[in-house]
Amino acid sequence: MSVERTLAILKPDCVRKNLQGEILARIQKAGFRVLALKQTRLTTETAGAFYAVHKGRPFYNGLVEFMSSGPCVPLALEKENAVADFRKLIGATDPKDAEAGTIRKLFADNKGENIVHGSDSPENGRMEVAFFFSESELV
Ligand code: RTP
Ligand code: MG
Repeated sequence: MSVERTLAILKPDCVRKNLQGEILARIQKAGFRVLALKQTRLTTETAGAFYAVHKGRPFYNGLVEFMSSGPCVPLALEKENAVADFRKLIGATDPKDAEAGTIRKLFADNKGENIVHGSDSPENGRMEVAFFFSESELV
């Protein structure tokens, strides 16, 4: 296994529910190093660009609207096998399908508002980290 970077985003529902500290603690307890984090509010343009891979899917417009609906917290994370381990920690996209004990099972309301984003491949992890953070901000 190699050291990987992955991008997490504590989504607007997470911030609205004041769960940032709770979720961050779970991420840190799971062994992820936080290289950078910030709170920001995405414009519809930025949210649309970030999720451009889903453009044209039926949920795309709702996703862009939700992701720009309030502040969110992007986090650059590093760990051995970070991408797969993080997706295991957060659970399936739809909390109904997520394993017991995962972040989405515990805290998410539905498939659209599911508390946290995680990159889906090491390559996308590097690209998504660079989408939000410059190299000099990763410390
Ligand atoms: P994410 O990218 O946010 O980590 O989520 P994911 O990989 O588990 O799921 P993905 O297929 O990449 O979908 C991105 C986000 O779009 C919303 N979604 N809604 N209503 C729906 O059918 C639906 N499908 C996807 C979710 O917010 C999902 O996390
Ligand atoms: Mg995804």
